[in-house]
Formats: sequence, C-alpha cells, structure tokens
Amino acid sequence: MTTRPSDAGPYGSWGSPPEAYGLPGEDELASLAASCFPEFGRRWDAPLDAAYRPTVAPADGNLPAGSPARAVDHGLLSLPRVGSVPLEKIRSDFPILSERVNGHELVWLDNAATTQRPRQVIERLTYYYEHENSNVHRGAHTLAARATDAYEDARARVSDFIWAGSADSIVFVRGTTEGLNLVANAYVKPILSPGDEIIITYLEHHANIVPWQLVAEETGAVLRAAPVDDSGQIILSDYARLFNRNTRFVSMTHVSNAIGTVAPVQEMTTIARGYGVRTCVDGAQSVSHMPVDVSSIGADFFVFSGHKIFGPNGIGVTYGRGDALEAARPWQGGGNMISDVTFERTLYQRAPKNSRPAPAA
Ligand SMILES: Cc1ncc(COP(=O)(O)O)c(C=O)c1O
Repeated sequence: MTTRPSDAGPYGSWGSPPEAYGLPGEDELASLAASCFPEFGRRWDAPLDAAYRPTVAPADGNLPAGSPARAVDHGLLSLPRVGSVPLEKIRSDFPILSERVNGHELVWLDNAATTQRPRQVIERLTYYYEHENSNVHRGAHTLAARATDAYEDARARVSDFIWAGSADSIVFVRGTTEGLNLVANAYVKPILSPGDEIIITYLEHHANIVPWQLVAEETGAVLRAAPVDDSGQIILSDYARLFNRNTRFVSMTHVSNAIGTVAPVQEMTTIARGYGVRTCVDGAQSVSHMPVDVSSIGADFFVFSGHKIFGPNGIGVTYGRGDALEAARPWQGGGNMISDVTFERTLYQRAPKNSRPAPAA
C-alpha cells in the first residue's frame, strides 16, 4: 500500500522518509553527488572543469550497447542512481538533455522556473493529437468520448496524486497564476467588504500578491503580510497576531521560490480555521519536491502548475475543498461551465465544472 505523506513519523508533515516514495535519501544523494562531482563536499571554489563530468545521454532514448547503465541493469557495475534507477537512464527519458549548449551537454538546473519534459509526456501529448483530439464533454462521437475519458482520467490521477479524496475537488486551470486569480475572484472577492482583511506572507511570489492587491483595491479590503525572521522562517506568533474580526482569507506559499523556506502550512491553516477563516496554499514550488497531502495540510484551496512538474505548458490545478468550491461564484463565463443559457438567465454546472469556461484538452 502507498504510504500516505501525512502518516506520523520523524519527517513531520512530510510523513515518511523520501525512500518510502522511491526517492533518494540524504546519504544516497550525498554519495550520488560525490560520484558525479569529485569535488563534492570538499571545496566550493573547485574549478568547474575538474568538478563537472556529466554522463552522456543517448540521443535516441535507447541506451547504446556499450552504455554503462546497461551493465548496471545486469548487475555488473555500480553507477549513480536515483532511487533504484540509474541516473543515465533518467537522463535518457529527457530528449532535450541530448542538446549541446556552447559545446557542452545540457545540464538543467532551472527546475524552479520550469522543468524539462520527459519523453513519456511528449509521447502522450502526441498520442492525444494523433488518436483522441476532440472537444471534451461536448460531443457524442467516438473521439469526444476518448478525449473526455482521457481528461477525466487525468482529473482522477491528480486527485490521487495530492490525496484530494475526490476528483470533484480538482479544477483544471492554466497554471498557478490563474489558479490564484480564480480563488481570489471566484471565492474571496464576493465575500469582501470595505475594511476586511486578507493575510499573505513575506515569502510570496508575485502571483500570490497581485491578485490579492487587485481584489482588495476593488472591494476596499486591506492586504496584510506575515513577517519572517532572519533565516526566512515565518514568525508564527506574529502571523497569529494578524488575525482579527475583519480577517476574511489567508493565502500562503508552501515553499518559497526565492529562498526555499518550507512554510509551516499545517500550523498556519489550523490557526486560520480557529478564526473561521479559509485558506489557500500556493504549491507551485512544493508539489515537485515533497509528497503533498492536501487533506492533512488542511487548506481550502491548493494550486500548482503542470510545467513545474514535468507536465505540459498551459495546464495547472486548483484543488478546492468541497464546500469551498461549491461556495465559489463563476468567474470566467462561457463554454463548458454552463448547463443551460437563455438570453434571460444562465444555469451553471456544479463544481468543479462551473469553475472554468472550457476544459483545456
Ligand atoms: C511560488 C510560486 N508561485 C506561483 C508561481 C507562478 O507559476 P506560473 O507561472 O506557473 O503560473 C511561481 C512561478 O515561479 C512560483 O514559484
């Protein structure tokens, strides 16, 4: 059985050690780094050439006959591995890593900005356009059924991935930025009056600042930010002191994109709930780095982007807890979010289908 991230253990809200998820532990990472980079752990200022000996990824994805990774598969050689998978095999899943840049094999370390896509994702997209392309939920023919099945299967998989408990909690959006704007406009703006307060933190990406500034400007609400200490940790006591009878919503990052702080989101949502205030967690930088269990985090909304977790561009997820999602008002109108339209009135689908105008197939 899969270990649930929230299960108690020495890893706190991470639940279980990384090894339980097939990820490398600290020791394994250290020996992996040491085997790839001879200077690892010795000197920070080691010359790049001496420290950098990348493994060459095969251009066609099939490991060549003489590849040392093949030898590992036959138990002949001990090569760098991530979990139980040889590093070279992982590189071979990413066609772009066969590119040469300035005469060097490509090494991609900018994953916080965007990830490279593995062959499996590229091939699944190609398969869609070759075999399934049609309108989701909007046709009675074979291709519409295939596209709709694929789309709803993705919703169920996302729900399992973040332990949402129900595929009906998953709204597909264009990315974290749109997800945060959706929460701000569809759920929070309708409950704001002049003088009401929204809490964010000093750790936020601007995608989790600007939507709140906009709804605050439009409604006369006030934006307040929880401070951090010298090491970039949220000062929980100061955060708790920001709550008062005017507080209506809290939006917080899970992991800071700038300094990597892991925010104590469980504690923060618990404090907010104590004041009857709903919460949103920006998971853009957490969902790719740690097991996420939205039920145990306790937030009403959780948002993230596909392109930061090896998925396609232009797709993201807003998780909404059942009653919070039901309480949200339609934001962008048209397309698949309606169940019936006349010139006099519109009837909407139930959540999650009422939250987006048209599924991005
Ligand atoms: C913490 C955080 N939130 C939100 C975003 C915005 O994500 P996107 O551009 O995919 O909408 C980013 C992007 O770097 C981020 O790091």
